Amino acid sequence: MARADLLSWIPEGHPDEMLVGQVNFDRLPEHIAIIMDGNGRWAAQRHLPRVEGHRAGIDAVRDTVETAARLGIKVLTLYAFSIENWKRPATEISTLMMLLKRYLRSELKTLLTNNIRFLVIGRMDDLADDIQDELRAAMVRTANDSGMLFNIALNYGGRAEIVDAARRAIEAGIRPEDLDEQRFASFLYTAGQPDPDLLIRTSGEMRVSNYLLWQIAYTEIYVTETLWPDFRRRHLLEAVVAYQKRERRYGGITIDPRLRSSQAR
Ligand code: FPP
Repeated sequence: MARADLLSWIPEGHPDEMLVGQVNFDRLPEHIAIIMDGNGRWAAQRHLPRVEGHRAGIDAVRDTVETAARLGIKVLTLYAFSIENWKRPATEISTLMMLLKRYLRSELKTLLTNNIRFLVIGRMDDLADDIQDELRAAMVRTANDSGMLFNIALNYGGRAEIVDAARRAIEAGIRPEDLDEQRFASFLYTAGQPDPDLLIRTSGEMRVSNYLLWQIAYTEIYVTETLWPDFRRRHLLEAVVAYQKRERRYGGITIDPRLRSSQAR
């Protein structure tokens, strides 16, 4: 179903068809998180203002959201604005917010058509009222969608999320002896969601940048040199294929079958 859905969207003979052929649809990552990086460098390479990189980044967002949904990914989380991003020039921040608003207005129909549920994770209350209204409207309109969950991390910080969760746990009157990892996770913004299986970072930087710190404990990290505005369906498929070649051990070991038989003896 997901394979057919994805292939129906790719023109016949397009090289991406071959990549789809390499994907194992029985072993898809359930949750993909992405650090969209390199917008500024993309713009600088073209002697354009930084905000043009963000503007171009919207096309990458559109393509990635639709690819992930058609591929059959359950959760996609994009890092759109961190708590640290407030340090940027005011004009860059206001452009980012304007782009976000415009994206939501123009893409709501696509989200609904593709049965995508939209959710904001982060300290949303600190954003401007008009942005909050737009975000809430999108969350309400897509609340009953049962397909992919699209989280957008906005005014988000991993440490802030952990602090917010601790505050909520205390407010809920949890006794220290009743708190364990599972219970704690139920106070995070991502409560009830699977942890990311795959974290993609564009533009070659080797950092996690305060992103989903609790949730990425065992996540596979994939870094591509591609700058975010150039990121397209092909790059997402390449990341999934690379992920599927990895061996996940969650702190355990993989026993070589030959050793296993000699141990049995
Ligand atoms: C990092 O590039 C990118 C961001 C801080 C913002 C990402 C936002 C968008 C792509 C647009 C809005 C998003 C949505 C979901 C509608 P950078 O500016 O740090 O790049 P640099 O490291 O090359 O300077």
